[in-house]
Amino acid sequence: MRKGRELVASGYGLRLDQLPRPISSQGLFGNERPLELEIGSGTGTLLTRESECRPDVNFIGVEYTKRYWRLAADRLRRQRRDNARVIDAEAGELLREDYLEDASLQAIHIYFPDPWPKRRHHPRRFVQRESVARIATKLAPGATLRIVTDHEGYYHHIEKVIAASGLSRTTFEPLSAARDDELVGTNFERKYLREGRAVYALAAKRATGPYAVPKTSLT
Ligand SMILES: C[S@@+](CC[C@H](N)C(=O)[O-])C[C@H]1O[C@@H](n2cnc3c(N)ncnc32)[C@H](O)[C@@H]1O
Repeated sequence: MRKGRELVASGYGLRLDQLPRPISSQGLFGNERPLELEIGSGTGTLLTRESECRPDVNFIGVEYTKRYWRLAADRLRRQRRDNARVIDAEAGELLREDYLEDASLQAIHIYFPDPWPKRRHHPRRFVQRESVARIATKLAPGATLRIVTDHEGYYHHIEKVIAASGLSRTTFEPLSAARDDELVGTNFERKYLREGRAVYALAAKRATGPYAVPKTSLT
């Protein structure tokens, strides 16, 4: 990107107070297409590419680093991705408050969440029992949570959290926008593939019946 170019977030970049409550495809996009959420969108590569490949789906991203949020929103605006928006917020807040209706999302994507490798920082990791319990309630019956990380230790932690969540493991299918050797095609995946690093992927589905939150998960 050319240095110094003004980034324009308006229209495609939203703040919490600009959101319809609850968030819905109708309220945000004026149609009834399925809605998918990406947590930690970075500069919006997935939102931009996947929304082009799947125009029949609406995408919302949430990103709390202001500069990345602005870059993502500006990119969506320049490429006129009318089926995608990026929200300036902390993902936990979006899931905790009543922004999202239960059973309203067809997929939730979390790609390369910050691994916080030092043991004393593990409580800062986004994927925890409580956040996954909230995520599970927002997934529609049959919908999928998809996670990719480069950090083996975080992956094993995620596996344990998912096993306790009531979601069922399923096959991780590459995204439509991913190239041949990729799973998702985000900036971090491309960087790690170039460096020859392993990545670990996991997908888990909500059953088609009602979702019972495990007793210990929500405080
Ligand atoms: C390692 S980057 C990965 C970016 C992108 N998903 C990718 O694969 O290229 C993690 C991103 O998640 C964002 N992030 C981390 N925790 C978050 C949270 N709780 N809420 C919103 N964004 C978050 C960070 O600001 C950063 O942009």
